[in-house]
Amino acid sequence: MAESDKVFAGSIPKFYDTLMVPLIFEAYAANLAQLVAASSPGSVLETAAGSGVVTRSLAPRLGADACYMVTDLNQPMLDHAASRQGADGRIAWRQADALDLPFDDALFDVVCCQFGAMFFPDRVAGYTEARRVLKPGGRFVFSVWDRIEENAFADEVTNAVATVFPHDPPRFLARTPHGYHDVALIREELSRAGFTDIEIATREEVSRAHSARVAATAYCQGTPLRNEIEARDASSLEVATDRATQAIASRHGDGPVAGKIQAHVIVATG
Ligand SMILES: C[S@@+](CC[C@H](N)C(=O)[O-])C[C@H]1O[C@@H](n2cnc3c(N)ncnc32)[C@H](O)[C@@H]1O
Repeated sequence: MAESDKVFAGSIPKFYDTLMVPLIFEAYAANLAQLVAASSPGSVLETAAGSGVVTRSLAPRLGADACYMVTDLNQPMLDHAASRQGADGRIAWRQADALDLPFDDALFDVVCCQFGAMFFPDRVAGYTEARRVLKPGGRFVFSVWDRIEENAFADEVTNAVATVFPHDPPRFLARTPHGYHDVALIREELSRAGFTDIEIATREEVSRAHSARVAATAYCQGTPLRNEIEARDASSLEVATDRATQAIASRHGDGPVAGKIQAHVIVATG
């Protein structure tokens, strides 16, 4: 993983939250929140919470006495999440690296993490930390994207942006968000972290946007792909977004667009 892959700062949090979240994260957040709330947990830790899409879906489903600790590596993402959440005494916000959690052992009934594990430089270390802070019998509920070919817009944007930089194509989307989809590897790494009961479900959803340009802008300007494009040539951001727009429009039309997305949702205990 490149250093810039984990930098969600500058204008990324705003574009991420307003464009990326409705495009691909909201549908999965409702499902993850349901899974977490199903056991009526008294204490929940969320890692890599980003701009708070799961937090907004989960908080209303938790009990009046629940404690909900919401964390992310990047403070700007957390600030954005907190600014969108109404006053709620059950929620605490804290900057934290999922690989080095600032919490005692056995504190939480559930640890949840939506589309964050792909960013962990050492997954076994991240899973070991999640297990350490879980109470005995607690659940680790998380999700990762399936391979990029199963995620239409991400694949089309990656191929289109490559034409702007043919000698050094930005590969963020394929390398990181869509770079950790091997179910056997996920099971093995969870087992190495000590989990004994692992359930993995593959879920297909549909990603929708008002136009190809909205979808292209979301990927090119609301994710660390932006960092990669700007590092090559800051003035190319618009050209790259235009190319991605044309690619999506040529496959999905000039009006509202819809494309397949697919992810793995994992519940680990033991
Ligand atoms: C694709 S976003 C997902 C955010 C959110 N969970 C959602 O579903 O919208 C990935 C998030 O992982 C965070 N992140 C990256 N590395 C991390 C780490 N080591 N520990 C905690 N969070 C991390 C980033 O700051 C970013 O907010």
